[in-house]
Amino acid sequence: MKDFVAGLPKCELHLHIEGTLEPELKFELAARNGLELPYSSVAEMRAAYTFDSLPSFLTIYYESMRVLRTEPDFYDLAMAYLRRAAEQNVRYAEIFFDPQAHTSRGVPFDVVIRGLRRALMDAETQLGVRAQLIMCFLRDFQAEYAMATLLESLPYKEWIVGVGLDSDEKGNPPAKFAAVYERARQEGYLLTMHCDVDQDDAIEHIRQAVEDIGVNRIDHGVNILEDQRLVETVLARGMGLTCCPVSNGFVTGSLKAEGIRKLMDLGVRVTISSDDPAYFAAYVQENLLALHDALQLSREELAQLQRNAFEIAWLPRHVKDAYVAEVDAYVAG
Ligand code: HPA
Ligand code: ZN
Repeated sequence: MKDFVAGLPKCELHLHIEGTLEPELKFELAARNGLELPYSSVAEMRAAYTFDSLPSFLTIYYESMRVLRTEPDFYDLAMAYLRRAAEQNVRYAEIFFDPQAHTSRGVPFDVVIRGLRRALMDAETQLGVRAQLIMCFLRDFQAEYAMATLLESLPYKEWIVGVGLDSDEKGNPPAKFAAVYERARQEGYLLTMHCDVDQDDAIEHIRQAVEDIGVNRIDHGVNILEDQRLVETVLARGMGLTCCPVSNGFVTGSLKAEGIRKLMDLGVRVTISSDDPAYFAAYVQENLLALHDALQLSREELAQLQRNAFEIAWLPRHVKDAYVAEVDAYVAG
């Protein structure tokens, strides 16, 4: 099964590029930028990754980003992920980035997006991995800052496929960003947002995302199982959920594998991604294997997770069809 998963053509839709910053690269970038890190070794740094909740993860996630300063830093960050992705036969990825985590510490938006964009272009020609960018707003910052970031992104609209919402969900409901999302839709961006697992008011947040904001898909979102009506809405719209089992394990103590299975059985377009693989020590392949260990998924079910992902990907129909045909050919072979 491990070989089957390794060779499966994959699609990753829930991946924070800043969450792919491995300790080795963190040290390299710190040295490049003349910064000191509070760890003496890679092992010591990894040993500090002891989160047990979303906020405890986010603290280390943001602290780590200060080594990212220049366009080549962002290029190297994205290129390192895309190389790992290519090794795991990820054929297509939609990559989140958090511009406010950088502009808030004085790194220009332009520096961030140019570095990422250049890596995406090189990965396509050099590695055969295609990827697009999704710009996330930080929900624990004010809505006005999100709106300003949205406006700042407009000159780069051709390089960004959609917008997302991440960071600390507590007290930061989707409704806070209704006007930002409305403007993003008018500008032609596709819409997703995090509805993190087991958060306060999880169901009400999912309801706002689906019914009030009208997102195209949901990141995480397994708590939707608590509301039959919302499940029916998602099914009727063919919406997808980008689930991240290993991340769930860190944030909630459970992979939420049974919930993921239930969603799959109901016919919801569930997909599996890695979220922040450098911090959770699992890229997409390891996430699929962790889920398989928990659920004994069949080959057909593992393939279906990839078909789901290509189906809900923000790509033209004929491109999705070509990727789904790759999955079908792999399973048949
Ligand atoms: N949830 C919220 N914010 C995040 C996440 C996540 O899974 N990863 C990076 N920022
Ligand atoms: Zn996430």
